[in-house]
Order: sequence, then structure tokens, then C-alpha cells
Amino acid sequence: MQKLGVGMLGYGFMGKAHTNAFKKANYIFYPMPVETELISICGRNEDKVREAARRYGYQRWNTDWREMICAPDINIFDNTGSNNVHEEPCIAALQAGKHVIVEKPFALNLEEAKRMSNAAKEADKKGIKSIVAFNYRFAPALRLARRIIAEGRLGRIYHFRSQYLLDRFSDPQAPFIWRLDKKQAGSGVLGDLNSHAIDMMRFLLQAEPLSVMAWNTTFIDKRYDSDGIVHPIDTDDASALWLKLENGAMATFEASKVATGYKTMWRIEIHGSKGGIVFDLSKGNDLQFFTKDDPLYLQGMRTINATEPEAHDYAKYWWPRGHNLGWEHYHIHMIEHFLRCIATGEDIAPWGATFEDGLRCQEIISAALQSSDEGRWINV
Ligand SMILES: NC(=O)c1ccc[n+]([C@@H]2O[C@H](COP(=O)([O-])OP(=O)(O)OC[C@H]3O[C@@H](n4cnc5c(N)ncnc54)[C@H](O)[C@@H]3O)[C@@H](O)[C@H]2O)c1
Repeated sequence: MQKLGVGMLGYGFMGKAHTNAFKKANYIFYPMPVETELISICGRNEDKVREAARRYGYQRWNTDWREMICAPDINIFDNTGSNNVHEEPCIAALQAGKHVIVEKPFALNLEEAKRMSNAAKEADKKGIKSIVAFNYRFAPALRLARRIIAEGRLGRIYHFRSQYLLDRFSDPQAPFIWRLDKKQAGSGVLGDLNSHAIDMMRFLLQAEPLSVMAWNTTFIDKRYDSDGIVHPIDTDDASALWLKLENGAMATFEASKVATGYKTMWRIEIHGSKGGIVFDLSKGNDLQFFTKDDPLYLQGMRTINATEPEAHDYAKYWWPRGHNLGWEHYHIHMIEHFLRCIATGEDIAPWGATFEDGLRCQEIISAALQSSDEGRWINV
């Protein structure tokens, strides 16, 4: 049994989610072609990262990612750092021969994304794998949606619509953090939430956009950090995009972090000439499907619970049908896919998002930033 050592950058929200995924992938997908060992976790504050190593079960810790990626016992570098520490460590790790996972949004800007994608292409020639953590690609209900669309059951696609809404920053007293700072985040909900939706559109429809019209805006223009220092806000609180797709479809995206009353609401609706699909993250095991093939007297949205072991991706590894999965499982599935690709040489695409997918997504984000600044359609 091959054993691969994991080096994790970041011990926050995603550091915890990915660590959990590595641990569970080892026994849920038993027998795995490869096992992992949690070797080191990296953060800037020694006391905190030492505690994170103890809590999560890493053998050691680093306060400099450069030391971590040089270590010979680390084979996988998992970058769950803030967006401003995606590019440099990922490229250095790929060049050092480590397989790399990076969180979304892929990069701070298009230049970074191009350099990262090029580094991944070079590494791939030597069998080094890389993936962008667009984890919703591993939600069984959304994989079912992709299958239904690929089978032509929706006919010609007319609409893709995404609303990704939360209220975490609707309180003006919510403290300033890195996500609100353009230098560290690149953009606001455009990169944070709409990146997921853009990737999902590309994943489900297998179609690319021709042009983008966007409006990104900020409602609360200053916030205080935990030390009481005031920061002007230069990232968007809300982001609305229209995309013209190459297949003639209209895609619309709305994202907000000041959508009062929503904890996290993500709804995707797709309409075609023969049918429609609705996905709602708060009921993430279900997919609603409408088909005109049903007799008229029975027509209506049906709800499919995507937990049938014989029929739905990943369901057989978990519990008996109807024993629902949650958000953490998408990350576990993603890690399983990544490890299997490393062990067998299988391609990350089309199920996982490659660095090329990360670049495509960043191209759309960059076009949306330009469109919003200039108030006009931008070709992608
Ligand atoms: N896929 C998803 O569903 C999802 C959800 C939330 C966040 N994210 C993404 O994950 C990434 C991290 O977000 P988060 O919510 O976990 O943030 P977080 O603030 O909870 O954690 C960020 C971590 O990065 C570390 N870090 C920052 N700079 C560093 C440096 N120079 N050296 C070492 N460590 C450094 C911090 O110490 C911290 O542990 C972001 O890119 C974010 O967009 C993805």
C-alpha cells in the first residue's frame, strides 16, 4: 500500500474541512489504492499552529511554507490559505514535485492564474497531479444533474441561473477580515461565491461563455478590525453577472454577503426546451427534475433523493439509501478522487477542476471586474 504524506497550509475553516476529508477518505473508501499520513501543517503563528497540529493529528508544524514543501516525506501540498497565498506556494510545490490541491478562488488575478496553470501543465508531464477545490462538483445530486443534461433530457439549454446568498456581513459591525481586502482576496463575493457558480455552470453545461456583463457593488464601505482599526472596503458585497454562452444560453448569477435572513442559500435553476432542473444547497441530497416526456397530467417537478447506492455517484460508499450526506462529504469525495488519480494516473478532469479550469474561471471573474468598472459587455 502506497502511503503519501500530506502538508497542509492553513488551519482555518478549509484546513479543518480538508484534514477531515483526508482522515475519512482513508477508511470510507476502503480499500483505497493509496493511504495518506498527516505530516505537517503550516501557519504563521507558532502557538496556534502547534495547537492545530495537535488537534488535527499532524506529526509536526511549520511557520514557513517553504520549509514544508521541501520536506521529502511530504508528497501532497494542500493549500487552504487565504487567496493571496495561493500562487507562490502552489507553483513552488509543483516545481518541487508535490501533488497540489488549492482552494478557490484559484488566484488573485488573471496573471497569477496563467502562471499557476502553466506550472501545473509542466508538472503534469512528470505525473504530478493538481486540483482546484471546487468541491460542489462532488455533490451526488449535482453529478446527477450533469448526467441528465449530458443525456439531453433538458433539450436545448435556455437558462442557467444561480443565486448564492448569505448574510454573514449584513451587520455593519461584522469585523474586517482578509476576505474584505482586495490585496488578500482579489474580489468579494464575485471571487468567493460566484466562482463556485461559474465553475458549476461550466461543469454542468459543458459550455463556455462568449461575453460577460457585470455589476459588483459595495454597500458597507468601511469596517473595523478586532483591534478597532478602521478599513475602507474595496471588495464587492454583491455581484450580479450576465453571461452569453457559446451554446446560445443565457446564464445569470447573483451573489451577496449582505442578503439578510439567509445563512447560506445557493439555488441553481436550469431550463431547457424539454425539461428543467433545480438544486438547493440547503436540501443538497435532492435534485428537482422536470421533463416534458411525462404525460401532461403528471407533469411537474419531481424530487430525486440522490442517495441510491446502485444509481448515484458516491452513494454506495456511505449509508443505506436515504441516510443523507452533508456539505463535508463533497470535500471527502474530492480528496478520494484526487488520491485515486495520483495512484492510478487517471485524469483529474472532467470530474475534478484542473488548474486549467481554475484559469477559465478566473478569466470570467477578471472580465466581470472589467465589465463592472467600465459598464459594458466584455468578451471572454
Ligand atoms: N471550497 C469551499 O467551499 C470554500 C469555503 C470557504 C473558503 N474557501 C477558500 O479556502 C481558502 C481559505 O479560506 P478559509 O475560510 O479557510 O480562511 P481562514 O481565514 O479560516 O483560514 C486561512 C488560513 O490561511 C493561513 N495563512 C494565511 N497566510 C498564510 C501564510 N503566509 N503562511 C501560512 N498560513 C497562512 C491562516 O493562518 C489561516 O489558517 C480561501 O481561498 C477561501 O476562498 C473555500
